[in-house]
Amino acid sequence: MGRKGIIKIAVAGGLGHIGLVQAACLAEKGYLTVAFDSDQSKLLKAQQGQLPFIEAGLDELVIKNLRSERLQFTSDVDQVGEAEVVFVCVGTPSLPSGEADTSSVEAVVEAVARNRQKPCLLVIRSTVPVGTARRINGGLERMGLSGEVTLVSNPEFLREGSAVSDFNQPARIVAGAEDSLTAERVARLYALPQVPMVITSWENAELIKYASNAFLAMKISFINELSRLAGKTGCDIREIKRGVGLDPRVGPCFLDAGVGFSGPCLEKDLRSLICQFDHAGEKAALLQAVWDVNEGQRVRLIEKLERELGGLSGRKVTVLGLAFKPHTDDVRNSHSLPMIKRLLGKGARVTVQDPWLITPSRVDLGGAARDLEAVVWAKCPYEAATGSEGLLVLTDWPQYRSLDLVRLADLMKRPLVVDGRNLFDRAEADRAGLEYHGVGI
Ligand code: UGA
Repeated sequence: MGRKGIIKIAVAGGLGHIGLVQAACLAEKGYLTVAFDSDQSKLLKAQQGQLPFIEAGLDELVIKNLRSERLQFTSDVDQVGEAEVVFVCVGTPSLPSGEADTSSVEAVVEAVARNRQKPCLLVIRSTVPVGTARRINGGLERMGLSGEVTLVSNPEFLREGSAVSDFNQPARIVAGAEDSLTAERVARLYALPQVPMVITSWENAELIKYASNAFLAMKISFINELSRLAGKTGCDIREIKRGVGLDPRVGPCFLDAGVGFSGPCLEKDLRSLICQFDHAGEKAALLQAVWDVNEGQRVRLIEKLERELGGLSGRKVTVLGLAFKPHTDDVRNSHSLPMIKRLLGKGARVTVQDPWLITPSRVDLGGAARDLEAVVWAKCPYEAATGSEGLLVLTDWPQYRSLDLVRLADLMKRPLVVDGRNLFDRAEADRAGLEYHGVGI
């Protein structure tokens, strides 16, 4: 492989949340990087520096590297064939069975196999079930390409909203391959010598990714389970989190009780991992419980609102937060969508507000668009709360934390708040005249 600066890299799925960060950050490191995607209209916009989603720090990086011509966008598969390293960053969504759909990964492998113009490293960043790299490698061997296309499993650990800084300051780099030198070559491409590297097998790398996301999900369900007892015994789950999280063996991260986890990764990966246990003839009792607790949180919050209001039919309900977490405009698999659907199904009149998603035209609601037609979109939380009989906080946007609770109480027809993110201070909410219900407090 040539020296840094002349290595040509292609990123398949180059307009996705992971692929675009991967491409822009590698270009910033000096590699000639081609972001490959088949979505023509998004590609045209990206070439002008207009990105398909919001991610902190990403547009500056893209614009800078487009100008320096270290970054290019393309739908021309030949350009992928010219690359010495191809990162596969395409999605692996859940199939109805819960298994991960790896067909996009396989399509990229096939395209690389057909179009390659030189030997290349094919690096799987996408989250794929254990055994996928070995299975794909078997296919390459049967095509007589094993010396030409070398597979490496290099799972990503980027969080939406902080993906650029996560890329540049990862906690670890995991790379799995048939031989450790190849895995190390890929890990060293990131040029982060201070970051611990886990050089391992394909299978271990694949499972490390699932184990990481499942462990995070488990921490959230653990604190949510405890929140039920805390709420009934006069405890405050936030104090429990503080006291437990200060133990370095536990740590404070991912211990915020609330509506539960959602988004494009944690749920999908947990479901896929449960299916992988199933295929291996093993029961994933703990993982199934993590899932069940998470589902239960959503139901419980709506039931709370319903009980307090004596039914939801005809009630005006405000939902604060559509994105699955703050600092993103991503609503893919956001908990808010099925919860709003459930509220509508019970006859509530729903108004939503999200700081970055002000009108439905700004949101890719996918299959949920039709379900949400009846929803009213408000520009600010106060407008959303006006005349409302119940307010549900579903995303922990920092802006919501500093809302004027007195004003909120004055604007609402009934000042009932079910805070699914424990954002408001109970004493302040009481003083403001809100009927306040948090999670485990
Ligand atoms: C997650 C992982 O954190 C990343 O390491 C991983 O790379 C990524 O999935 C992936 O597989 O690509 P992300 O989906 O961006 O990242 O979001 P998280 O920050 O993990 O949050 C997931 C959900 O958990 C959100 O709904 C969040 O609100 C919720 N959460 C998080 C809680 O309910 N409580 C907490 O204490 C923390």
